[in-house]
Amino acid sequence: TRVFISRDMASIALGADDVARAFVQAGCEVVRTGSRGLFSIEPLVEVETDEGRIGYGPVGPQDVAAVLDGTHGARLGRVDDLPFFAGQQRFTFARCGVIDPLSLADYAAHGGWRGLEKARGQSPQMVVDAVKASGLRGRGGAGFPTGIKWQTVLDASAATKFIVCNADEGDSGTFADRMLMEGDPFCLIEGMAIAAHAVGAGHGYIYIRSEYPFSIAAMRAAIDASAHIVAPFTLEVREGAGAYVCGEETALLDSIEGKRGQVRAKPPLPALQGLFGQPTVINNVLSLAAVPFILAEGAEAYAAVGFGRSRGTMPVQLAGNVKHGGLYEIGFGITLGELVNGIGGGTASGRPVRAVQVGGPLGAYFPPGMFHLPFDYEAFAQAGGLIGHAGITVFDDSVDMAHMARFAMEFCAAESCGKCTPCRIGSTRGVEIMDRIIAARVPAQSGAGGQIAPSRNGVLEKALYSRAPDRIDVSVEAQTRLLRDLADTMKYGSLCALGGFTPYPVLSALDHFPEDFGAPAPIKEAAE
Ligand code: NAI
Ligand code: SF4
Repeated sequence: TRVFISRDMASIALGADDVARAFVQAGCEVVRTGSRGLFSIEPLVEVETDEGRIGYGPVGPQDVAAVLDGTHGARLGRVDDLPFFAGQQRFTFARCGVIDPLSLADYAAHGGWRGLEKARGQSPQMVVDAVKASGLRGRGGAGFPTGIKWQTVLDASAATKFIVCNADEGDSGTFADRMLMEGDPFCLIEGMAIAAHAVGAGHGYIYIRSEYPFSIAAMRAAIDASAHIVAPFTLEVREGAGAYVCGEETALLDSIEGKRGQVRAKPPLPALQGLFGQPTVINNVLSLAAVPFILAEGAEAYAAVGFGRSRGTMPVQLAGNVKHGGLYEIGFGITLGELVNGIGGGTASGRPVRAVQVGGPLGAYFPPGMFHLPFDYEAFAQAGGLIGHAGITVFDDSVDMAHMARFAMEFCAAESCGKCTPCRIGSTRGVEIMDRIIAARVPAQSGAGGQIAPSRNGVLEKALYSRAPDRIDVSVEAQTRLLRDLADTMKYGSLCALGGFTPYPVLSALDHFPEDFGAPAPIKEAAE
């Protein structure tokens, strides 16, 4: 019997290796795949039958016999028919969880290399035009049109150009880059080879965070296995060293060059003077991995899906306190409420959803009253937030939003590269202000409904400043004003998104959950 079991890092963390060993011992042929992306049913075992791949999950090593005779209680039926998968539009993740990630034969049998073949039959300008026509925008978070970036590099005259893939996926609650690299690494390589043909680059780097050892191994093995296909284009993996700011493109380039990862002022744009001063395409994993589909199926097929100026699909990642955490690839336009309550099934704790943070630690918090928002770059920007890398982290009603605002400042202080003052110093002042607010607020007003212990720093600060009330007004009102002023300075005075976007989580927490900051609660909007 042939069975399929994921070897994705998350699946292994849930016990997939033990399960795989048990099936091997039972005499089965075990194919290790990437993850399908629904973690509440992992470890998932798929048994090949005449009716297709029948899923069982979650299962343990003790379940082998019951799975093989079809009597196991966790029988899910055909995996492709499960609502979580049947409802998706898997353009980028079509093969992830289905194929053996390192089998060239499997990749080719599932449509692999068709995009590269088509691209190589076209002029570089035609390839760039196809990417422009698809409407693809940078999936790392900023949403800049990928085709325009490629055009800038194509038009730059230089003997040496580079393709750099940003796989320093540092946002909390995101794992799409990792899943793609572990589940379908040839797809990323194909996207990079198409980019190389489009702009005339000879060499590429994949910069992967060191916390992703399985991705690093998978990419290195896939690069070796496909070298003859992508030649003369060559590729190598570079490992990060744990700095969040190295996900910022210019700090990442410095890091590859062997320097300390520090943000460079722009201009010059990396497209004109990037790695080692040469014109460089630097794109996120998901942007590059979307390109093979666009070339193979046509720009129109990609652009036909989406909402407004957000074309194509987005691999949304549901994480945090959510019942069905996982990756859901779908066309833009689906609402936040459909994602969190419909697909995610609400919280894992069973308590009401109180807030979701979209776009990582620099993204805004939204209350259920805003769940009508369509997933779209412009709609989120208008609502004071961002889609970012499409990570959604869910919180139930036990969350204390003042502590989340404090965490945003603390995160910025810890990860700041130190180059500019609003970020380096402002974030530390922000933590202090939040400590004063937390110490001064009236616990009974907390939307969390429970007693909130003031932080240790807050207690010390309160004691300190209460002895000098003429020198500083420690009331919640005064400190909140100070917080808004500081957020303004950070937003407009920081060199990069780390300092510049930290105000998003802070101000959205303050605006949507004022009761946690010691102010009266807003009039509740109807939840969807
Ligand atoms: P940005 O708006 O400065 O630039 C976006 C991209 O477009 C860059 O690659 C830039 O070089 C390029 N670009 C801009 N104008 C261009 C032109 N005229 N020609 C060619 N290329 C041009 O945004 P930035 O600072 O690169 O990224 C910020 C985003 O990063 C945020 O929205 C945030 O969501 C996201 N982010 C993602 C993380 C992750 O783990 N994926 C972590 C932290 C932040
Ligand atoms: Fe460095 Fe922060 Fe300035 Fe970005 S905003 S350049 S991380 S100090």
